[in-house]
Amino acid sequence: MNQPTPPVPRAEWKSRFGFVLAAAGSAVGLGNIWKFPYITGENGGGLFVLIYLACILLIGLPIMIAEIMIGRAGQRQPIGAFEAIHEKKNAWSGIGWMGVVAGFIILSFYIVVAGWAMDYTLKSVVNFTKPIEATAAAEADSFIASASKDEIKAFLVETKVAHELRPKQSLFESQLTKQESNSYDRFAAAIEAAEDKQEARRRLLTDEDLKRDVRKVEEINKKVAKAKFEISNQVERSVNVLTERQLLAEAKTAKRRALIFDKMATAFINTATNGWQSLMWAALFMMVTIGVVAGGVAAGIERACRILMPTLFALICTMVLYGAFQPGFAEAISFVFSPDPSKLKASGVLEALGHAFFTLSLGMGAMMTYGSYQSSKEALLQESLMITFLDTLIALLACMMIFPITFSYGQEPTAGPGLVFMSMPLAFAEIGAGGMLLSILFFGLLFFAALTSAMSLLEVVASYLIDQKNWTRPSAALATGLLTLAVAVPAAFSSDADSVLANWKGDYGMDFFDTMDHLASNWMLPLGGLFIAVYAGWVMPRRVQEAEVKDMPGWAFHTWLWLVRIVAPALVIIVLLQKVGVFDIDEIVAGFR
Ligand code: PHE
Repeated sequence: MNQPTPPVPRAEWKSRFGFVLAAAGSAVGLGNIWKFPYITGENGGGLFVLIYLACILLIGLPIMIAEIMIGRAGQRQPIGAFEAIHEKKNAWSGIGWMGVVAGFIILSFYIVVAGWAMDYTLKSVVNFTKPIEATAAAEADSFIASASKDEIKAFLVETKVAHELRPKQSLFESQLTKQESNSYDRFAAAIEAAEDKQEARRRLLTDEDLKRDVRKVEEINKKVAKAKFEISNQVERSVNVLTERQLLAEAKTAKRRALIFDKMATAFINTATNGWQSLMWAALFMMVTIGVVAGGVAAGIERACRILMPTLFALICTMVLYGAFQPGFAEAISFVFSPDPSKLKASGVLEALGHAFFTLSLGMGAMMTYGSYQSSKEALLQESLMITFLDTLIALLACMMIFPITFSYGQEPTAGPGLVFMSMPLAFAEIGAGGMLLSILFFGLLFFAALTSAMSLLEVVASYLIDQKNWTRPSAALATGLLTLAVAVPAAFSSDADSVLANWKGDYGMDFFDTMDHLASNWMLPLGGLFIAVYAGWVMPRRVQEAEVKDMPGWAFHTWLWLVRIVAPALVIIVLLQKVGVFDIDEIVAGFR
């Protein structure tokens, strides 16, 4: 058979430490800094974090070992690696092809978000929060000057009640299954549309199933209303005892923050809905990425990570330190670290599992590709442990940097991409001069984290042309980079009102951008991970495998084998079955309660 000959000598990392840093650079990215804090927020904190850690240990780490092992053994990127190990063409290289496709899909939205991070870094340099803060302060002043005392009081009460009610409300609502809320929504809409509402209600409620769902939702609604009543009383009492000075001061701060937040939100929406602008930044970001990847494995990627990773780490520590002196720090720590089972839905467990793949860059061959640039046969376990540890550490630190600020400024921990682009500048605006510095640090950090991950995504795609088609590295990086940019066009324009994709969202609730994220993170990565685990556990020749684990303790090897053979595949299959709707975990768990 005509084996493609890899260009000799094959690129290699300069040192083991360099490899670990580059792989950690791939793992640590937007997934850690914006996605993890926000899904932790949505899933109620503590317990979700614990389950995520279990997923990392039981599924992430074993698959990480498997990917690096396959890459090292094959000395090729994912499409060629399986062929090289078996010395003949085989269907497993399909994993590699799927990885290449996933790489394009992930990059297409990843570079758009990374572009926004660049945009915000530059905006921070020109201190964009300052004029926003100034206008908001002026508007708040004029509100206080023109409104009557009762109006001011009503405003303060309303703001405080809304803030205190939100966590309670989401706690109550988390007791409902998706099906229950859906059927209630349909019921409510039908009543709304009917002429004789009483009659319509009676007629619809003859259906026993519907009746049960409606009862349950109405009970929850009652509880929410009761909580609101109690909170309102309490808040009103506390506002009534304020002196006039205190009242005005508190109302002014609340008004100013609300205004700043609105303006930040508008600024972000303006950024995100401007397709051409998003594309321009994404293109700029892609150029930087192409530049590094074209520079080579050791001279480009490794060198960049050697500088960027420690910088990133130092920046995060600075921000955490800042957070530690904020009033919301204690609340943030208990939110992230104390498990509260009542706040977690079973489907949150599945989300934790999916995120474990994304955050560790698993399931699409990135770790395989990086592993293939290592000729060493040692320290597989130590390397994997180190990469996994660094990624997890940074995800947790990111929570400890973001939540103290979110809580201190009365924001909710559940704002998605907005958590980073809207809530954080709120704090920066309030801090004043030092805020500008923090803002530059923060968005710069987001940019660096995204860069070291995007490099690995592009490397997977480019290395195919280099390894299998004998392209030179710079032309491979440029060609795949430009192709990625073309794929990113729809993502950049996905929320631009003038684009053809503006109506993509429709009833289905996800715009084109979210769809790409969902497709790659929730489908392709777990599926890829499943195949990789099965391959490493059952198919990979023992002889090849053993060569890679000579220095691994026997018990560790056997635990690993057991995890990739049974545990990881079984858990991934459960997630995928839940996703295709074969069953709904929340329903099943609710059934047992
Ligand atoms: N792990 C990266 C992050 O957390 C994303 C990524 C996924 C990178 C898959 C490479 C491959 O942002």
